[in-house]
Amino acid sequence: MARPAQRQRGVNSAPIEPAKLAFNTEGVPFSSRYGDVYHPRAGALAQARHVFLAGNGLPERWQRRDRFVVLETGFGLGNNFLATWQAWRGDLQRCGRLSFISIEQQPLRHDDLARLHAASPHPELADALLRAWPPLTPDLHRLGFDDGRVELLLAFGDVQAWLPEIVAAVDAFYLDGFAPAANPRMWDARVCKALSRLAAPDATLATWSAAHALRRDLATAGFAVRLGQGSGGKRDITLARFAPPFTPRRAPARIAGRNGVEPHALIVGGGLAGCAAAWALAEQGWRSTVIERQPQIAGEASGNPAGLFHAIVNAQDGVHARFNRAAAFAAREAVQMAIGAHGVAGDVGGLLRLETTLDLPAMQALLARLGTPPDVAQALSAEAASALSGIALAHPAWLFTGGGWVDPAGLARAFLERAGTNAELRTGVDVNQLLPTADGWRLVDVGGATIAEAPTVVLANAGAALRLLGEPGWPVERIRGQLSMLPATALPMHLPRVPVAGAGYLLPEVGGLAIFGATAQRGDADPTVRDADHLANLRQLEQLTGRTIAAPVVVLAGRTGFRWSSIDRLPVIGAVPAIRVDELATLALSPHAPRLDHPRLVPRTPGLFVFSALGSRGITWSALGARALACSITGAPAPLGADLLDAIDPARFVSRQARRPQPA
Ligand SMILES: Cc1cc2nc3c(=O)[nH]c(=O)nc-3n(C[C@H](O)[C@H](O)[C@H](O)COP(=O)(O)OP(=O)(O)OC[C@H]3O[C@@H](n4cnc5c(N)ncnc54)[C@H](O)[C@@H]3O)c2cc1C
Ligand SMILES: C[S@@+](CC[C@H](N)C(=O)[O-])C[C@H]1O[C@@H](n2cnc3c(N)ncnc32)[C@H](O)[C@@H]1O
Repeated sequence: MARPAQRQRGVNSAPIEPAKLAFNTEGVPFSSRYGDVYHPRAGALAQARHVFLAGNGLPERWQRRDRFVVLETGFGLGNNFLATWQAWRGDLQRCGRLSFISIEQQPLRHDDLARLHAASPHPELADALLRAWPPLTPDLHRLGFDDGRVELLLAFGDVQAWLPEIVAAVDAFYLDGFAPAANPRMWDARVCKALSRLAAPDATLATWSAAHALRRDLATAGFAVRLGQGSGGKRDITLARFAPPFTPRRAPARIAGRNGVEPHALIVGGGLAGCAAAWALAEQGWRSTVIERQPQIAGEASGNPAGLFHAIVNAQDGVHARFNRAAAFAAREAVQMAIGAHGVAGDVGGLLRLETTLDLPAMQALLARLGTPPDVAQALSAEAASALSGIALAHPAWLFTGGGWVDPAGLARAFLERAGTNAELRTGVDVNQLLPTADGWRLVDVGGATIAEAPTVVLANAGAALRLLGEPGWPVERIRGQLSMLPATALPMHLPRVPVAGAGYLLPEVGGLAIFGATAQRGDADPTVRDADHLANLRQLEQLTGRTIAAPVVVLAGRTGFRWSSIDRLPVIGAVPAIRVDELATLALSPHAPRLDHPRLVPRTPGLFVFSALGSRGITWSALGARALACSITGAPAPLGADLLDAIDPARFVSRQARRPQPA
């Protein structure tokens, strides 16, 4: 039996339908769908200041705090966000970091948003918002401002689908749907209950609505509710403080970071994962020490001269496609930063992926069904793909608009440089053992000497993390890969203007070289560069480009590396489970066996985190993966929905095993 489309495609993947902008007779932005205005005639700013800021005790409540988190239902025109950001900027005692989460089912198109903010009272902020405005996909988009100290997490989709997916401890709620009678999904008891799950201790809430049903449902959900003085023609507004009769329990997966610990992490491994982790922790105000066994960073898998990054299109739009799409947005931003501010070689001008199964109409139909906007992916005929790339291609192709290529070691360096004085690098140090201490972890070298100690450790050392963890039984494998290079002039064809991928890939010219590859060999530990693999890469290149290449193998240079990949083709990121996969059978015999069938339920080892199994997508995954990791360490709002956090959680292997019948 066919399941409903939205369910098949994951919780939050219904296509996004942009808002249709209209104005009422008084010139106030108006929604004909809901028959209501976006803000009162007296002005959005006045409402933002009186109801949402003052109603939540802001700016006073965020003063002298490290981080303050706001969650809004209904982003609309973004006026409340801009007013909050403006107030934060203007407050000398502001919190160190402001996270503003907002959920919006019908976001405005970029052009409409620009029209609405043409005469903005905050032109500088409105311009920055417009420049960062994301593609309209059903994802959690992270927009960073003021050097990342202000972040806007924009969840596009339905409020009731998103609220259970948000992972954050919220200090202030802004409820700003259209009028409850016309827009009941924004205000009902399920929304109130979901807000209570997100509320930090002493969280407050404000809204212009004084609807009786809302006040009742908020009270049932644990809020102490009162009426406040209205403005702009409204008599009353609703104000509330979270005061539940008992403290709600949080899932072990969401509390692995220790409260009040020193904000310093030891990161083992200085590849893309380790350097990105240092960057993301620095964004949250944490310091780190990156410990790398090689004489320099990115000396192993991350040391290829160039590699690709891009999203994927998949008919199901399940966790894999959604994680890759979100990761590709973050990768593009990071690569742009690396190119623009750190002189790294690369390009974000798009990437072509040849399609050999679907024809062009089927590709176009798939994009239309998924609602994928052209600024994420387009279907191109073979002719259009050839014209774009500048080389003849025999197949239609997906154009990943935000994709491209980069020098991965350069990207790793840029991550570290971005972390600045918050990251210390120690190279030539091989971590041989990880030992628990009274309040954290000790890293030990092969001679038994202590390398360093800290309450928090991140294992970002690819497959070697498994040995330090005592082989926890996770299904992660090593895949050898060799790529080939030769002088661009030695290849009897032009190189493409954008990377072309399919079975294998060919890059635009990088430093005078043609770079193509790569092989993928399981169970092969040979680190040497082999002629047979160059031949395999040449055959792959012939398939990709549809032409015969008779380059003599002797002019080929190459590089070999090892990708560590999990069986489900997703990275392994998060707090390390306190239970090994092979302990489950014994545990199941205990009458007090805990429920472990969901990653969120699996207990964790305090202070120990892993960032590994980046497979053949380390460039695409490192920025988003690092932010997800940093949030699980620091407690900052997660840049991914809970279902995607579960999908990359190391505890998923424990839960999967727990769901299988255990031997009697
Ligand atoms: C041939 C090939 C082509 C690829 N092409 C692409 C591509 O086009 N796009 C893409 O996104 N990805 C590509 N990848 C994958 C990408 O390179 C990896 O996903 C990424 O580099 C993994 O980064 P990492 O930091 O996890 O691992 P690594 O770069 O291997 O970093 C781990 C680091 O940990 C250090 N270390 C290990 N153990 C210890 C220890 N005990 N003490 C101290 N330090 C330690 C290692 O020295 C190493 O520097 C390719 C990989 C290969 C092999
Ligand atoms: C009053 S407007 C918000 C104004 C906004 N806070 C501002 O500062 O400009 C209400 C918003 O709620 C959105 N909305 C309505 N129903 C929704 C739903 N079910 N889920 C998420 N957003 C919804 C509308 O699209 C609209 O943008």
